[in-house]
Amino acid sequence: MSQLTTGLGIDIGGSGIKGAPVDLVSGEFLRDRLKILTPENADPAAMARIVGEIAAHFPETAGTPLGVTFPGVVQGGVVRTSANLPKSWVGTDARALFAEATGRPVRVLNDADAAALAENRYGAARDVGGTVLLTTLGTGIGTALVVDGRLVPNTEFGHLEIDGHDAESRASSGAKEREGLSYHDWAKKRLQRYYRVIEDLVWPDLIVVGGGVSRKSEKFLHHLDIRTPIVPAELRNTAGIVGAALSAAEV
Ligand code: BGC
Repeated sequence: MSQLTTGLGIDIGGSGIKGAPVDLVSGEFLRDRLKILTPENADPAAMARIVGEIAAHFPETAGTPLGVTFPGVVQGGVVRTSANLPKSWVGTDARALFAEATGRPVRVLNDADAAALAENRYGAARDVGGTVLLTTLGTGIGTALVVDGRLVPNTEFGHLEIDGHDAESRASSGAKEREGLSYHDWAKKRLQRYYRVIEDLVWPDLIVVGGGVSRKSEKFLHHLDIRTPIVPAELRNTAGIVGAALSAAEV
């Protein structure tokens, strides 16, 4: 494991691209994050320019490895799926693209996987053994599985087919917004079914709920009747950036 104590993380999402230098000992930002809105045309070239801009905004981190999240499957730095960003990402070597745009060594990983690494080191899954399932509820549903502290990358349980639907199209917070569901109805009619199915398939010891809406967890988590302990993420919207920085530093 590397001895690096600072790193730079960038979190790519459907609405914004956010980056900050991270203290890898505490898991906290060293400076305010920079957020740039995701452009309408979020293709690889446009996003690489933004990633380059964000990295250049933190010159004090030059030379430290850069971790970048992507909202899709990433294998060996290559994007394999892109449910909520343009399909032109599929097959793109994002690691090479961002390394060229920033002049740094880069690690690219799935956004939920990054959040799980951060929660595992600094947050709600700290010191928790066994199987931890993190779900991020946002535009889509991201999932990450950590077994005795080790990440099993690229689980895509947000795309389980449940009752004939892609799960995230019904149970994400994006679906809640789109359909104007109250927290109560979203929890009872959508999340309840989703978490029941997933706990029967994975049998986790703990479920951690992340994504922007986890800030409002007191409005919906108590409506769920499932056997698995379920808790909100602790790092909230910093988890992607922190986990990305952490993963890059530990390569
Ligand atoms: C993608 C996942 C991603 C999640 C959250 C899903 O649609 O398939 O890879 O983690 O959205 O962004």
